[in-house]
Amino acid sequence: MPHSLSNMFLRLAVVAALIGMIWGNVMGATHNYTTSTAHAHLNMLGWVSMALYGLYYRVLPHAAVGRLPQLHLWVSALSLFIMVPCLTIVRLAYQPALPFAEPLLALSGITMLVSMLVFVVVVFRSTAGKNQPATT
Ligand code: HEM
Repeated sequence: MPHSLSNMFLRLAVVAALIGMIWGNVMGATHNYTTSTAHAHLNMLGWVSMALYGLYYRVLPHAAVGRLPQLHLWVSALSLFIMVPCLTIVRLAYQPALPFAEPLLALSGITMLVSMLVFVVVVFRSTAGKNQPATT
C-alpha cells in the first residue's frame, strides 16, 4: 500500500486531536488545569506533529520507502504513548507511580528527539536532488 505509513500517522493524529480536545474541554469545564502540560503535548506532538508527518509522507510518497520511515512511525508513536500518561502522573504528583513515571518521562523525551532525528534524515534523503521523483 503506497500510502500506508501516511495513513497511520494521520489516523494517530486525529485520534490524538480528539482526545486532546476532549481533555481541553474537561479542563475548561472543571477549571482544573493541573494537567494542561500533558494536554498541550498530546495536541502538539500527537495532533500537530503526527499530522505534519502524515502529510509529508503523502506529498512525497518516495520518502516512505525503506525501514527508516517505519522506525520513525514506531519510535514517535511509542514515545507519545509513554510521554503523555507519564506527564499526567507527574503533574498530578501521583506518588505510587512517580518512581516509574519520572524516568519514563525523561526516556520518552529522548526517544521523541531520536524520532525527530530520524525524520531529519528522512527529509534530507527524500529532498536530495537525485531522489526527486520525475514530475513531467
Ligand atoms: C477543543 C480544543 C481545546 C480546548 C477546549 C483546550 C483547552 C485548554 C485549556 C483549558 C488549557 C489550560 C489553560 C490554562 O492553563 O489557563 C489549555 C492549555 C493549552 N493548550 Fe489547549 N485546548 C484545546 C486544543 C488545543 C490544541 C489543538 C492545541 C495545540 C495544537 C492546544 C495547546 C495548548 C497549549 C500549548 C496549552 C498551554 C499548556 C500549559 O501552559 O501548560 N490546545 N488548553
